[in-house]
Amino acid sequence: MRFKGKLLLSYYEKRLLNAIKRFEIITMVARMNVIDLFCGMGGLSYGFSREGFQVMGFDKSEHALLAFNFNRIGRGIRKDLLTSEVEFEEGDEDVIIIGGPPCEPWSRLNLRKRCFRHPLYNCIIHFFKTIFRINPVIFILENVPDLLKDSTVCKLLERAGSGFSLAHRVICYNHYGAATSRKRLFIIGIRHGYGLSAEDIFECIPRGEPRTVRDAIWDLRHVNWNERINHVWPSARTVRKYMRYYKSGKYGWYILEWDKPSPSFGNIAKTYILHPDSFNGGQTRPISVREALRIMGFPDSYRLPPEIPLNVKYEMIADAVSPVFSLKLARTVKKLLL
Ligand SMILES: C[S@@+](CC[C@H](N)C(=O)[O-])C[C@H]1O[C@@H](n2cnc3c(N)ncnc32)[C@H](O)[C@@H]1O
Repeated sequence: MRFKGKLLLSYYEKRLLNAIKRFEIITMVARMNVIDLFCGMGGLSYGFSREGFQVMGFDKSEHALLAFNFNRIGRGIRKDLLTSEVEFEEGDEDVIIIGGPPCEPWSRLNLRKRCFRHPLYNCIIHFFKTIFRINPVIFILENVPDLLKDSTVCKLLERAGSGFSLAHRVICYNHYGAATSRKRLFIIGIRHGYGLSAEDIFECIPRGEPRTVRDAIWDLRHVNWNERINHVWPSARTVRKYMRYYKSGKYGWYILEWDKPSPSFGNIAKTYILHPDSFNGGQTRPISVREALRIMGFPDSYRLPPEIPLNVKYEMIADAVSPVFSLKLARTVKKLLL
């Protein structure tokens, strides 16, 4: 029906049109490939996968890919990216490339072999080379904030600026709803001509209620070792020997506090991050793998298979992007892009 030249749609017609639009968006997202370089256990990919993108992850670690594939994040492929390229087919320029190359060359914990002296330095170079070769719709790079102090990386970004709208932010995961105050640098590039600025993405990512250690793991405090999936921790026989480190507050030696977010932690099998009840009438022990996953924002449906050794599990969690943030990031990309 027409009224003053306008098409008037009935309630059912409007609902049908909305359903068609939703279906079109879902199929467009499902067709859009996300390539995760250095995908690890899939923290960064997690959000894109849950938002319906087709994710392909590349990593050289057998254990990381085991976790990636076990949790059905996408198709995980084992590849040493320093010795072989990711192959793309014609028409693949409509991809999104994401990735968190190893951060050891700029990590404040690594005082020797910094920047280009570090054997993993070329991973970041590979990331940029892939961006220049493929010219994706969007790229998202995650790393430690000190990456931006590296002059070679700054030059690579300058070059990227001629083809992409660029923006960067240091993100504190606690501001987005994870129970950790870990901070990470995110750089976003959107190909010129797409009618979007990278700043728009950061501006539109919704913040979340900051969470504490209590919010994340309180219900597990009386659950015994291995009584839940991944609720395991290393033997704490030597913990008392390190008491002076815990008192010093040195990086990596923390007893968590119930009503604060957890500080950023590394591999818990190396520097034990202790449960808040430690030395306080409760059990004195490192936090379990499940507790570490919860603090980072992984849901209990995310599982690390038993074949992965305990120290590798802790290492991968320490390396991962918080899925609470990756979910919001992916949702925003989807909303703005489509
Ligand atoms: C910081 S982690 C990535 C974490 C991931 N983005 C996440 O959110 O879970 C870096 C990853 O790079 C991988 N890696 C290191 N050197 C590599 C190489 N030469 N080729 C492929 N992957 C490599 C490591 O195995 C590790 O999983």
